[in-house]
Order: sequence, then C-alpha cells, then structure tokens
Amino acid sequence: MCGIVGYIGDKKATDILIDGLSRLEYRGYDSAGIAVFNDGDICVEKYKGRLAVLEEKIKDKDISGTVGIGHTRWATHGEPSDTNAHPHTNYSQNIAVIHNGIIENYIKLKEWLMKEKGHSFKSETDTEVIAHLIDYYYEGDLLDAVYKAIDKMEGAYAIGVVAKDEPDKIVAVRKDSPLIVGIGEDENFIASDIPALLKYTRDMYLIENGEVVLLTKDDVKIFNEFGQEQKRDIFKVTWDVESAEKEGYEHFMIKEIYEQPKGVSQTLNRRLEDDKIINLDGIKITKEDLERIDKIYIVACGTAYHAGLVGKNAIEKYAKVPVIVDVASEFRYRDPFVDDKTLFIAISQSGETLDTLAALREAKRKGARILSVVNVVGSSVARESDDVFYTWAGPEIAVASTKAYTTQLVAMYMIALNMGITKGTLSTERYNEIIEELKNMPEKIQNILDKYETTQHLASSQFNNESVFFMGRGLDVEVSLEGSLKLKEISYINSFAIAAGELKHGTIALIEKGTLVIALATQDKLYDKMLSNIKEVKARGAYVVAIAKEGNTEIEKSADTVIYIPDTFDELTPILAVIPLQLFAYYVSVARGNDVDKPRNLAKSVTVE
Ligand code: F6R
Repeated sequence: MCGIVGYIGDKKATDILIDGLSRLEYRGYDSAGIAVFNDGDICVEKYKGRLAVLEEKIKDKDISGTVGIGHTRWATHGEPSDTNAHPHTNYSQNIAVIHNGIIENYIKLKEWLMKEKGHSFKSETDTEVIAHLIDYYYEGDLLDAVYKAIDKMEGAYAIGVVAKDEPDKIVAVRKDSPLIVGIGEDENFIASDIPALLKYTRDMYLIENGEVVLLTKDDVKIFNEFGQEQKRDIFKVTWDVESAEKEGYEHFMIKEIYEQPKGVSQTLNRRLEDDKIINLDGIKITKEDLERIDKIYIVACGTAYHAGLVGKNAIEKYAKVPVIVDVASEFRYRDPFVDDKTLFIAISQSGETLDTLAALREAKRKGARILSVVNVVGSSVARESDDVFYTWAGPEIAVASTKAYTTQLVAMYMIALNMGITKGTLSTERYNEIIEELKNMPEKIQNILDKYETTQHLASSQFNNESVFFMGRGLDVEVSLEGSLKLKEISYINSFAIAAGELKHGTIALIEKGTLVIALATQDKLYDKMLSNIKEVKARGAYVVAIAKEGNTEIEKSADTVIYIPDTFDELTPILAVIPLQLFAYYVSVARGNDVDKPRNLAKSVTVE
C-alpha cells in the first residue's frame, strides 16, 4: 500500500525522501511524488510509474529545500496517473498532503466544498479533498486547521501535511493506518514503516490511533484527539540495517526463503525454557481460563489465514477445543459467535492489515480475549491485543510471504502445545516428543533448501503452464492452499488448490493432457489414498509432481517427479512441505521474467478494506 515519508532538518529533503520511499517500494505502488519547500514555495513533483521516473524528471531541477513530504501511491480512488499521484494540494498550492488509507465520506465532503465553498478539484482522489478541507479551515495555524479537518473526515488514514506559510513544520495524523516518527539530531522524520528511516535513525516514536504530531527540526510534539500533549517513550529499533537489504541475493523473496531456518529457530528458542518448556511469558492463559474458553476463533488474511488453518488442527488435536478459522474480511460481517468465553487469535505478519484489525476490534467489543501472533513489534494488532506472541522472522520485505508463514506455524504449534499441557489433554511424553522434533525443523528446512536444484530444474521446464493444480489430504490441503497462493501471486499462473478427495466431485473435468498437478502426499495415514488420487489424474493425462516424505518411495511408480522432504511427524509436515512450494513459485516467477518482490496489483501491507 501507499508509502509515506517526511523530512524536516538541514539536509536536502529530496534525497532523503526518495531514499526513504525506495525502502518502501516493497509495499507496492504505481506512482510517486514529493512536495518540498523551495525558494518560498511548495514545489510539487509527481509522476505515474516507478520512483526512477520521478528521479529522472527532477534530476536537472534545483530543488534544494530541507523540508518536505514524499509518497508512493497504490491506486484506490482513480487510476494511476500523474494527476492522481500524491502529494495533493489545494487550488493555490499552499497546502500539500500525502495520505495512506481511504476517506470514506470524501464524495460528500467534495460536493460540499465544490457547491457551497466554490472549490474546484483536479484529481479523482479522496486525498485531494483533505488538502482543500485543510485550506478551508486554515487561518495561519496548520495544526489547528488539521484538527478541524480531521473532525470532518471519516475512514482510515495516515497523513502528512505542510503549509507554505509555515515552512518550519510538518503535521501528521494517524487514524487506523500506520505512522511512525523518526527522531534525529536537528532533524526529524515521519514514515509509514520503519525500513524507510533505518538509514537515518533507530529512535522512533510509535504513533497511536487518533494522534496528531507536530514536527519541527528540533522537536516532536504528540497530541491526542482532544489536543492534549502525550508523553511517549522512544522505541529503539534493534534490527540490523542489513536485515532490510538484499545482502547479495537477487531478490528479497529468495533471501527470506533462506532465512527460514533462522526465523524458525529464533521463534522457538525465544519461548523455550531449559530447552523444553514453552514459556508463554506475559501470556497468562491459565488452566482456569482454558476451562472457561468454549471456542477459539483464528482470524487472518491470505498466507496468515493459511497458517491459521494449520493452527486449528494443532489446537484441536492437543487442547481439544473447537476452533473456527475465518478470513478477516468475512468475519467482520458474519455476526460471529463471539462472547466472553471466546479466545480470538489474530495472525498477522505486518500487524497493520486493516481487515484483521477491524475483526479484532469487533471480537473485543463482543467480550473475547485477544491473543495475536504478529511479526512487527509495536504494530497496531500487537498493541490492541491482550496478549502477543511475537514471531521472530525479522523484517519481511518481499510481497510474497514466506518466513512469516513458517514462523507463524511454529507459534501456533507452541500455543497449541502449551494449551494441551496446561489443560492436561496432551501427555507430557508426546509434548516432549513434539518439542524435540520442532527443534529439528531448522536443520530439516536447511536440508530441503540445500537441494533447491531439483525444484529449480522443475520450474525451468514447467514455467509456461497456463494453470496448475495443487492437491492433498488432511494437513496437505492447507499447505496446498498456501503453495497455490504463492504461485499465483508472483507467477500470475491460474492456480487452484483442492482436497484430493473433492476432485471427482467436479474439478477433475479440468484435467487434460499435460496439466500440471502438484500432489502433496506427506500424511502417512492418507498416503495410499493420495496414491489413488494421483493415479486418477495421471489417467487423464496430468503431469504429476509429488511431495512426499523421504523413504516413501512407492509414489515414484505413479508420479512423474517426486520431491522429498525429511521424515517428521505428520502433524508437523506443513513446516517442511511448504518449502519446495515456495521455491517452485519463486523460480517460476524468475523464469517468466516477473518482478518477484513487487508483483503486479499487490501490496505488502493491506491497510485498506
Ligand atoms: C501472500 C501475502 C498475503 C498476506 C496477507 C496478510 O504472500 O503476503 O496474503 O499474508 O495480506 O498480511 P499480514 O500477515 O501482514 O496481516
């Protein structure tokens, strides 16, 4: 989604804005722009296309001002174009605004400004309305005008605003869209995400919902919605700058695939005491709490939702509590069975996905206890939860989620194991066995990664398919869904995942000579059934690639190619089976010449509904 950067200090703002925006490119965008104070005016430059287009257009212009705001836009209202790109200004260009989110009542506001106040508009965006609204209220005090404007605005937004008559100020607001402030020496920053500022500072303020920030070059003031000044502790970012860099890998996605052994091991070890006891420090769900809870909702989007499906299996198996898994965008409008006996688990890499956040708020309103599994420390989902289990994947930059998924799986297994042992529904012996096996996972993932060439080779011959089917049984269905999503989002191949037993009920009609079917057969008790399903599609001419556990070689007789994963307990196979599927999606995307890290139409963090 849109990226926001703002700078106020003594350095050339343009360089810092463009550099910051380039570190947010992974979020997805289709146009970019800046507004910088220059020679007594606000100089606005904005163009459709990549940041490189903006850089090329301004390279010979003298924009040397030291205060400005910049934006990468992911189109929602109005097509990608120079006119619709941000920053947007009022008519006389003395107020400029960047915005991430959606102003839901912008049409009403626009009509009011046009008909009753005589304003005229250039773009189709909701953002332009904000600039005009601030202009309407502006009487020489930007902070005051912003407060009056936001009082009229409905929706989710983070905005950055500058006014020509107050060149020593940036005002920013956060409402349901991420916003952070970076603190420097004689300089300050705003951004929608930490990587944008890491090169300049690791000292941040995390801005809360409804807060308004006033930045000058040597001061930052944070106010609540009523204008009262707020105290804020500095949040020190502990990641290395390099963890947000490619470090020699061709793409972030492949780097992040290779970081999975480390992410899994960190997620596990941070919560293991004496190497074997899961310590849910700070997450005080007692035996009494668990006995009271009569159901669990796991709610998330996309890949995180797929991790939730695996989590359901683990919780039901170990803790014997019924679990409902739902996609956040549906949960909100379903009138779900949530009450004070419900535990609501939100899973989110970014912690900023608007649907997940809204679902969480709805569950909270109905009395549920909220536990979240989140990667980004201090994100909105984390802050609004009663308890947080952080995954330790490190920053995930590629749009296609990989290491977040495997670390989310580990988190869900640990939560389930902890519930099982606390409730007494899981034996100590089995608990210990699973923990021991989880500890082997980093090495087993590495083992699959070391054999990447089999998958790379497969991708080099199979990248031209028009459609691909993934199928499995039991937990392999959940992994098939994730494999299929990974492939479609970065290869643009029409891929589809199905429970193998469902094939005969319709979908088998689509199988014809040469159709690629990726068959997951990692569940021992369902292995023979999968062999039959593979035979069924082979008989219709499919080319079958099977994923099976080492030692289960019988499958070679039915499948055309077999990719083996190390042996493990059936319930833990998702952590391993997904790895070849991630690699396959990656190599297919590379072979098709796609922009792997920034696939078309997609954004990393979906902060609009
Ligand atoms: C797919 C992908 C998305 C996200 C989804 C939720 O590769 O990345 O499907 O999983 O948008 O995002 P988070 O986890 O940040 O809430």
